[in-house]
Amino acid sequence: MCGIAACILKNGKAAPILLGCVKRLEYRGYDSVGIATLNSSIIIAKDEGKIKDFEKKIDLSKFPGRIGIGHVRWATHGPPTKENAHPHLDCEGNIAIVHNGIIENYMELKDELEKKGHSFESETDTEVIAHLIEEYKKSGHNLEEAVRKALKRLRGAYAIAVISSDEPDKIIGARKESPLIVAKGERGYFLASDTPAILEHARNVIFLEDNEMVTIDDNGHQIKDLEGNIKEKRFKYIKWTPDMAEKGGYDHFMLKEIHEQPQVLRDTLREIKAIQQVVDEIREIKRICFVACGTSYHAALVGKYLFESILHIPTDAIIASEFQYTANALDEETLTIFITQSGETADTLNALRAANKKSKTLAIVNVLGSTATREADHVIYTRAGPEIGVAATKTYISQLACIYMLAATIGQKPDIIEDLRKLPEEMEKILEKDELIKDIAKTYKDESDFLFIGRGFSYPTALEGALKLKEITYIHAEAYASGELKHGPIALIEKGTPVVAIAPPPLFLKSEVHGDKEFRNSHTLTLSNVKEVKSRGAEVIGLGSEDDEEFKKNTSDYISFNPSIREEISPILYIIPLQLLAYYISVMKGEDPDHPRNLAKCVTVV
Ligand code: F6R
Repeated sequence: MCGIAACILKNGKAAPILLGCVKRLEYRGYDSVGIATLNSSIIIAKDEGKIKDFEKKIDLSKFPGRIGIGHVRWATHGPPTKENAHPHLDCEGNIAIVHNGIIENYMELKDELEKKGHSFESETDTEVIAHLIEEYKKSGHNLEEAVRKALKRLRGAYAIAVISSDEPDKIIGARKESPLIVAKGERGYFLASDTPAILEHARNVIFLEDNEMVTIDDNGHQIKDLEGNIKEKRFKYIKWTPDMAEKGGYDHFMLKEIHEQPQVLRDTLREIKAIQQVVDEIREIKRICFVACGTSYHAALVGKYLFESILHIPTDAIIASEFQYTANALDEETLTIFITQSGETADTLNALRAANKKSKTLAIVNVLGSTATREADHVIYTRAGPEIGVAATKTYISQLACIYMLAATIGQKPDIIEDLRKLPEEMEKILEKDELIKDIAKTYKDESDFLFIGRGFSYPTALEGALKLKEITYIHAEAYASGELKHGPIALIEKGTPVVAIAPPPLFLKSEVHGDKEFRNSHTLTLSNVKEVKSRGAEVIGLGSEDDEEFKKNTSDYISFNPSIREEISPILYIIPLQLLAYYISVMKGEDPDHPRNLAKCVTVV
């Protein structure tokens, strides 16, 4: 995720206005920033780091030109450096572009362009687009036509804004699978990734759709599709304040990020090729050891269930701060996999440094250029974009998606990928159950203790559901593997104790341990546990299949899922209502879910 903005003003200087616009997009990325304006030629200022530091270094009031483009970056290809910061130029410096998205075939295009004599300054996928446009301009096309021809060659996602000193009176924008709006106000026209960027200047907005391009000049704007057909679209008046708009109209970043999860999963699924490459490099692995903290540890635990039960590879999941006390059996045939959103968690980095001495290491990380990405032997990126809410939500989903893709690739099980592709739609259906979850939150918000139970793949979901609840509502919550209840925790159950029970339709496996016998399935056994707690007075909140009448009958509240989502893929979907439950209870109790007490987004101390 990055943020782009562009403007064509009636008069005045574009650069300071653009900086204001990209400041409002900082929630979309904050590792580098850049502006280009157009006078008789293109002038660029860009740097790595935050906007506030950029502002101190560069006096944008001196930048001439009433037309320009701006960018805040969340690195995806190439670390956050000045060279990789946008805008990017063609060979001659006549075309400048800013881009949000990922171009999947940029390496092929780069090879092709290099053979034609193009040289590149950055490691980004974006720079390739500028050179491709240049190539089409060289063969006689005007800017609009050259951009259209270039876009037709791209595979992947993009929102772009392009300026050229050869046609210095216009801006071209286009989108496919990354958002882009056109806005018109007193001062002129604007393009932006999102509304908060422009609300100070313009409130009449058109939301471009996939494969639409817009050309803006002093005479107005024209929207066309990629075949050149004109599209008529109406402006919509936006009432939001810039603060509301930054959160996409949601009250908190956490809620916005929960709702972003279907798109995050779609974006993470694009990483399959990169994952294939990593698997090709790693080869011979006899054992896997996942290491992580907190929510990332819960993703690690799902990894253990997946790799052991489905791929039959011996797998551990270790809490990073415990790694030094237990992990003495690593060797060259072990792949130690570190899962960390930030890539900077001190406990995880310490474990990574120890594991580097003994085993092959792989880091699954969200923040490009972070320490873990530099120190691990191999890296997979989760592509969730910046997560502003302190409680991890969308990054958990993207970590899980990477783990499943890794398992599918190592175990050569394409059906896992097929299952993943069905999930974004199912996620959208679950997000529509908002009102039901709000009602459940209202019923239980004043309780002081919750229990979460689940078996097999649902045990990590129970742990993560309990963690979300405790960290943002401050209600005491414990998670147990359902089978453990009878070994102690069942003593806690009294009349009215809320028990969240997770029991998706089961995975049927022939167990190597139990020989020919069918595995006694997790579902039936969890249902027995549900009956046990119910008979002792618990109020059961069930998460299960919509056709599971037996389960429903034994619950006070029930959140239902598509019956085709079986246990082995359920962690990606079943966590969503539990994130929402924690969120709504937090809000109903008057807490701030985005900034829970005593917690930091990145824990850099041991
Ligand atoms: C919980 C949460 C934390 C992190 C943990 C690890 O919502 O966000 O438990 O998951 O601190 O952080 P990373 O993944 O950055 O290593």
